[in-house]
Amino acid sequence: IPVAPFDLVIFGGTGDLARRKILPGLFRRFCAGQIPPESRIIGAARSELDDAGFRESIREALHEFAASKAGDPDAVQDFLDHLYYVAVDATGSNGWTQLKELMRDDDEGYVRAFYFSVGPSLFGPLAEGLRNHGLAHRETRIVVEKPFGHDLETARALNEELAQHFHEDQIYRIDHYLGKETVQNLMAVRFGNMLFEPLWNAQYVDHIQITVAETVGVGGRGSYYDNSGAMRDMVQNHLMQLLCLIAMEPPAKFDADAVRDEKLKVIRALDPVDPDQIVRGQYTSDGKMSSYREDAENPVSKTESYIALKSYISNWRWANTPFYLRTGKRLNARASEIAVVFKETPHSIFGIDSGRHRNVLSIRLQPDEGMTLGVTIKEPGPGGMRLLDVPLDMSFADALGPEAEEVTDAYERLIMDVIRGNQTLFMRGDEVEAAWAWTDPLIEGWERRGDSPKPYDAGSVGPDDAAFLINRDGRRWRVLK
Ligand code: BG6
Repeated sequence: IPVAPFDLVIFGGTGDLARRKILPGLFRRFCAGQIPPESRIIGAARSELDDAGFRESIREALHEFAASKAGDPDAVQDFLDHLYYVAVDATGSNGWTQLKELMRDDDEGYVRAFYFSVGPSLFGPLAEGLRNHGLAHRETRIVVEKPFGHDLETARALNEELAQHFHEDQIYRIDHYLGKETVQNLMAVRFGNMLFEPLWNAQYVDHIQITVAETVGVGGRGSYYDNSGAMRDMVQNHLMQLLCLIAMEPPAKFDADAVRDEKLKVIRALDPVDPDQIVRGQYTSDGKMSSYREDAENPVSKTESYIALKSYISNWRWANTPFYLRTGKRLNARASEIAVVFKETPHSIFGIDSGRHRNVLSIRLQPDEGMTLGVTIKEPGPGGMRLLDVPLDMSFADALGPEAEEVTDAYERLIMDVIRGNQTLFMRGDEVEAAWAWTDPLIEGWERRGDSPKPYDAGSVGPDDAAFLINRDGRRWRVLK
């Protein structure tokens, strides 16, 4: 879908996210011919830089973070010509007038968007600055990054602050998981096929596992992470979004409010989690890699770098179906997947020798995106009716060919959606608040009890207690590879 020409201001334009994700993403869209030639991308930050200095620093960033496209010097130069820079003081008065002079009126057909790639403490001042300096119109869009609050109270305060200056339909809260190709594919798989939906409920599904495992540690961002932990950093947002997409009712149409209404209902139907259904872990050194406490530079930290929990959604579709969630840093594999484990057949005509078999639909989000359906068949040979589970395997790269190799990065898609004015893949204020309302009591619970996370070796599968959490229900975690 073509986009209108735009003026996009990136507050925090010299920061890490802008250099790693936002500008390389825009550059790739530019190479794909999707950035209208009259568009302007304006970096805004505190440092005193001019357009030329900003363009040079972004040239380096493109070589580092968009290397596959940055080999063409003409394309890089053409893109850099769209870049401008203004030094703006978010909490003061410097720079706002220059910024205003650079921007064109949105009533002339230009989309006007401001990306707040800054800490949440600046969301309010920036929103106010835009309003006070006449930069915010009814059509103007703002994009805000996570963390959106530290708990329900702070998230509510942020929503209220933004709402003083912008309507909800102008606010784009990013959860970059929603921009991932495979995450959107969850909706295509569920609602584009007749095959799965009739079975997608408590009657046929035994349980669901959602895993986001990372091999990276927290080194370099310890000061942020130590104050958050896996619950705030990953579960409250990314895993929650995956849970919503897997569990929600079919929206009547694929539009922003229809989808977000359904997601909200899931979050609101989530049961509180009992303390004995949560396992928190913290990685220790395995002799080669450093420990969490070293990475976080806090020798007494009780922050979790791993969490596993079991939860239920109390609604008609999912009553009594466990949802097991786990995520952690410095694990043995980088693997994100959702596994829908179906129930056993009600009766085995092949007798007890045939063993226990459950179909498992596993959706691999990253890496090696694809789907596998475990199907039970006869074990070959003359030895009678012994059964065996085999995978019906599909890797998207194999099925779709070279086009699928160049998967659009989450940020690229989301930024273009902002320009198109499509909020479907962005979180609504009430959704974020509902997610905090569910996580807050869990966090308060372990803080009140003074629980310490369980140690696990860097490079392992996580703490032993996480295995017990699921094994005592007669189930096991999927093996991470
Ligand atoms: C971020 C978290 O939101 O997501 C990080 O703050 C995490 O801690 C990252 O590593 C994971 O994103 P991805 O796209 O690499 O799975």
